[in-house]
Amino acid sequence: MNISYGARREVMKHIEKYMLDNMHTYLKPIDTIWQPTDYLPDASKEDFFQEVKELQERAKALPYDLFAVLIGDTITEEALPTYESWLATVEGVSNDEEGGWMKWLRHWTAEENRHGDLLNKYLYLSGRVDMRKMEISTQYLIADGFDIGTDRDPYRNFIYTSFQELATNISHRRVASLAKKSGDGLLSKMCGVIAGDEARHAKAYMDFITQVFTVDQSEAMIAFEDMMRKKIVMPAHFLREIGQKAGSAFEHFADAAQRLGVYTALDYVEILQDLIKEWKIENITDLNDAGEKARDYIMKLPARLTRIAERMKANSADYQFSWIHAM
Ligand SMILES: [Fe+2]
Ligand SMILES: [Fe+2]
Repeated sequence: MNISYGARREVMKHIEKYMLDNMHTYLKPIDTIWQPTDYLPDASKEDFFQEVKELQERAKALPYDLFAVLIGDTITEEALPTYESWLATVEGVSNDEEGGWMKWLRHWTAEENRHGDLLNKYLYLSGRVDMRKMEISTQYLIADGFDIGTDRDPYRNFIYTSFQELATNISHRRVASLAKKSGDGLLSKMCGVIAGDEARHAKAYMDFITQVFTVDQSEAMIAFEDMMRKKIVMPAHFLREIGQKAGSAFEHFADAAQRLGVYTALDYVEILQDLIKEWKIENITDLNDAGEKARDYIMKLPARLTRIAERMKANSADYQFSWIHAM
């Protein structure tokens, strides 16, 4: 990858100042934002066991695929240390602890940390999960790390996170509505509040990239093109189960999400279209040759990907995850 980090540093100085001044619009005050406890049975109360019993009854009624996706989502959230440590190695930004980037990264991580925490507790209480097998997958996912093709480039990383936050918003939102349909209103609320966080985070990262587009349009365009050529891989693409190779469980997890319509190939295209609209890609002028070519590629991509997505068929459901107890 041919990136001039010196040039990036100049641009990022400006962006980091913007982050510092504006991050509060994308974050919620810690004292009043929701916490996992708000959605969980209170173990200090007398009706705790009754509430857990009811939670288990509702969990039993959830379709197998939905449960599998929920576990995959939880493991993905719980691999947060991977994402934080990766983002902390981005170059061309200041590592000043009070600078815009490091401060945003800490606050973003602090909000995200609640997601895995809440879902993990729900799954533990549900009684449907072989927690040890799930925990092994989580430990593997963190130990395996990931390879998302962004290098240490702040532009590519913020484009990646913009995409990812939109993707997690969609998938948590869909799980919320399917859970509701199955009669699990509490789980639906949990996934709903998580989805709300993801939407705010998406707005933040998209805004940061909007700022990059206003000052370094060609390089931003080339970074966007490059990420889309490589395809945006999911953060859990190395997901595995005990005794298996890295990535083996991810396929089954992604298949289940596609079957349920929780996250599909068409969603991928829609996210791309949202980003094109958000960053007003069509109207960006003053591009160099490579930037022009990059824009052409991006503008044609949704139609191409739609054709491919429409031809894709979801694999049939026959996989048994080690994470889920047989009923
Ligand atoms: Fe999250
Ligand atoms: Fe997120």
